[in-house]
Amino acid sequence: MQRRAIGWFGGLIVLTQLCAAPAYTPLQAQQKPVPAPWMETSLSPDRRADLVLAQMTEAEKLQLVHGTGWGVLKPGTPVPPEDNGGAGFVPGIKRLGIPDVNLADSAVGVRMAALRGRYSTLLPSTLGAASSWDADSAYLYGSVIGRELRAQGYNMSIGGGVNLMREPRNGRSFEYAGEDPLLAGTMTGNLMKGLQAQKIMGDIKHYAINDQETGRNVLNVMLDRKSMRESDLLAFQIAIGISQPAAVMCSYNKVDGDYACENDYLLNQVLKKDFGFKGWVLSDWDGTHSTVKAALNGLDQEQPGSDYFGDALQKAIAARDLPPSRLDDMVHRILRSMFAAGIVDDLPHGSVVDPFQGREDARRIEEESIVLLRNASEVLPLPRSLKSIALIGSHADLGVLSGGGSAQVDPPAGNVADPRRGNGEWGKPVYFPSSPLKEIRSRAPQASVTYTSEDDIQAAAAAAKNADVAIVFVNQYMSEGRDAPTLSLPDRQDALVSAVAAANPNTIVVLETGGPVSMPWHNKVKGILEVWYPGIGGAEAMAGILFGEVNPSGKLPVTFAAREADLPHPRVPGFDPANTTPGTADGASDINTPFDVHYSEGVRFGYKWFDSERKEPLYPFGFGLSYTTFAYSRLKVDADRAAVSFTVTNTGHRPGAEIAEVYVELPNSAGENFKRLAGWRRIPLSAGESRNVTVVLDPLTMSVFDTKTNSFILPRGRFQVLVGSSSRETPLVGTMIK
Ligand code: BGC
Repeated sequence: MQRRAIGWFGGLIVLTQLCAAPAYTPLQAQQKPVPAPWMETSLSPDRRADLVLAQMTEAEKLQLVHGTGWGVLKPGTPVPPEDNGGAGFVPGIKRLGIPDVNLADSAVGVRMAALRGRYSTLLPSTLGAASSWDADSAYLYGSVIGRELRAQGYNMSIGGGVNLMREPRNGRSFEYAGEDPLLAGTMTGNLMKGLQAQKIMGDIKHYAINDQETGRNVLNVMLDRKSMRESDLLAFQIAIGISQPAAVMCSYNKVDGDYACENDYLLNQVLKKDFGFKGWVLSDWDGTHSTVKAALNGLDQEQPGSDYFGDALQKAIAARDLPPSRLDDMVHRILRSMFAAGIVDDLPHGSVVDPFQGREDARRIEEESIVLLRNASEVLPLPRSLKSIALIGSHADLGVLSGGGSAQVDPPAGNVADPRRGNGEWGKPVYFPSSPLKEIRSRAPQASVTYTSEDDIQAAAAAAKNADVAIVFVNQYMSEGRDAPTLSLPDRQDALVSAVAAANPNTIVVLETGGPVSMPWHNKVKGILEVWYPGIGGAEAMAGILFGEVNPSGKLPVTFAAREADLPHPRVPGFDPANTTPGTADGASDINTPFDVHYSEGVRFGYKWFDSERKEPLYPFGFGLSYTTFAYSRLKVDADRAAVSFTVTNTGHRPGAEIAEVYVELPNSAGENFKRLAGWRRIPLSAGESRNVTVVLDPLTMSVFDTKTNSFILPRGRFQVLVGSSSRETPLVGTMIK
């Protein structure tokens, strides 16, 4: 037995023994304390949980299956002294050495740090980070969050959003990882793995099909089960398989008539049985709607309060409406996850977050996340010898934009800009101190670099006219609680870009957006960079790319449609501009008349929709340019191993990384007319270098879900294999007979 594993609880046992001991205790007995058996770290988490459970009273068990209330989230509600100031708190069982659980929102960095005078690193949006297609980068992302949670005294994250981008105007897209189940599941799974490696319990959310904010509390998703399993639920399956998170948060919406937090199919049948998930299900905040139904259908913990899982649960057990074994199962799941994550054996000791390390990590992640969408006449990279540069818009003199809602991170020393737009709790965009102007100036020492706000389009065009290069920063502020009404950039930013492009032939647009936007001006400008919400290291990362210190390598994790009419749903279902309250915390999500959303497109959203409907996207899924060029050759398909080998050559003059994408089209029997992403490889290559790589395809993405046998089945026949640089550029084509 290691000493550390005994911890303070072992000490407690010694103390108890000493107090109960007769006046004279033999020395040997004092030296050999008997630690609680569940503190033995060599036992499995499940065994340790069972040993604790056997000691617990019913009241203690009930204490673990709900939170203590809204705490700091609703001013005026009580905050227990041990509550660390996060979104949730569950008191532990001190007498048994089970620590309190302090839960923090931490989708893109630890939320609400300022409340306790602390600092958190703002990372790029997770959608941005998904553009790196780099599992190591996702792992780093998670470890930054885990490290900072620990430093701030938390032991559980409630980040980990993996809802697929079925609805490109979804206000929370920036907290998720795109439209493809394999990419989103892999990136989120690795993020969570990195986080949990810091001895923090992780969570994956919002389970499931919570793909829009409009009416999120009342909408009922209608989607056939085969499509669910091959799309939204597959992303969860992959992420959960990679990371074995402590918890899964069920979502606000209904699915097929039942709320997600009391949905037998989603929770019991799929999550716990089919995925073999061993952790616990906690409700989204106020997403619990019943006691017995929710408990029987798989919910393990109510958050943040105890309306249904406090006294009501105790009464249901007393009345035999709920077997006590179900309460034991809930508690077992919570305890085993605490042991598995290491939070019982190794309590967080408060320390100071290192903002420099955080900024450095955020910059590195962002460098891989930026996607170069257009580079006409090789306008980029910019030469350092430029004499004049006009920066325009989006507070590019001061900082970078962040996303709002429960994913909001507090900026050090407050909002660096004072945005004209927005009001209310989540309505006002928050800018972080990472100044593009400063970074660009430092890279073009001979240039006069000016900044003009977007407010005056004429002044912006005039500034552009007098400069060698104009860089227009445009943005789309997004937040939990509301969706974007359209794909268009808000306010007059389209007009701004058009006016600047008309004034300066060397116009470059930098997009700071939560998700995809339309760009009616796209072929009037020379360069377009999608930097997403770029995080605290954003300005350095984007300036590094603009001036060619870093070669862009990101690829879109989502399709950019040219116009709404091309989407499966030209309007966000249920969205009514007259019925929303922009600028309130709940915005469009406060619609209270229930409605159904029919996702009749099934799995065909994103690139699958554009491919099968033969529509031309503005920028396709998987697309992204580099300052060098790559060629693909020598495809070999190994059907037995479902492996694909090919050679990628850097045919340009600079080092760069290529993300080589592998898609499959299923045999005709599957009845599909689109391809599916089945694997990829990120390949760094120096100028002129060639590398042969092998990508083993993911069997899940090559299979169809059979509802009769409730299993994934690999169709027999001829698979088409397509390899290339995007979903629309696949120069290598082969077949695989299964
Ligand atoms: C969000 C969750 C969040 C919770 C606690 C809810 O409004 O949907 O993602 O974790 O609040 O802040």
